[in-house]
Amino acid sequence: MSELATKDLSFYYTKDKPILQQLNLTFERGKIYAIVGKSGAGKTTLLSLLSKLQSPKEGQIIYEDTNIETINADRYRSKNIGVVYQAYNLLPQWNAIENVVLSLDVAGWKDGDKKAYAKSLLLKLQIEESDLYRPVHQLSGGQQQRVAIARALSYNPSIILADEPTGNLDKATEKEILTIFQQLAYEENKCVILVTHAASVTSIADEVYRLTR
Ligand SMILES: Nc1ncnc2c1ncn2[C@@H]1O[C@H](COP(=O)(O)OP(=O)(O)O)[C@@H](O)[C@H]1O
Ligand SMILES: [Mg+2]
Repeated sequence: MSELATKDLSFYYTKDKPILQQLNLTFERGKIYAIVGKSGAGKTTLLSLLSKLQSPKEGQIIYEDTNIETINADRYRSKNIGVVYQAYNLLPQWNAIENVVLSLDVAGWKDGDKKAYAKSLLLKLQIEESDLYRPVHQLSGGQQQRVAIARALSYNPSIILADEPTGNLDKATEKEILTIFQQLAYEENKCVILVTHAASVTSIADEVYRLTR
């Protein structure tokens, strides 16, 4: 059983312009996948389908044997899958801990010390103690991306999806962020799916899926 799979997945925004056609992809735990293709090929669209922001026109997306159409979207997005965006999408005035605690709240965590847990996760991702309490807009791009990864990991999803996660970062910072994705796949057995057009990102992938239209 694969962790996530598309079965004859097709999608279009308007019927005369198909974006994805009969796509069959499989994603396993413990591996890194790169989804590549020219600008406009449908990479972000595929990510929005895998993360259940929109629904297939035809075919299915299967998460651990279950068609995701039958799973509650909020539940799927706050339990099974963690998403990291190129532009971080953090609440800029909130600090790192508050950003992570918010996603735990959305995921329905009631008890336990959410702040302490958020802090431990952020420290593990090498955010320094002194940076934990500053509004995140004051942090560097690399630090903000670490906070965004911590947020995506907070509720321990089996799948991490990232859209151009290093697109705004310099080379050295990109390397550090890619190391985090490698640890997630190889040490924590997560299924890591990276949408990218960067060769440096593709080079760490175990499998490369190219979208063409
Ligand atoms: N919300 C939308 N409505 C209509 N067309 C869209 C929408 N989002 C993207 N598209 C179109 O779908 C195609 C694929 O876009 P996208 O998935 O963003 O590609 P990529 O991420 O590979 O650059 C493009 O032609 C784009 O213009
Ligand atoms: Mg895109």
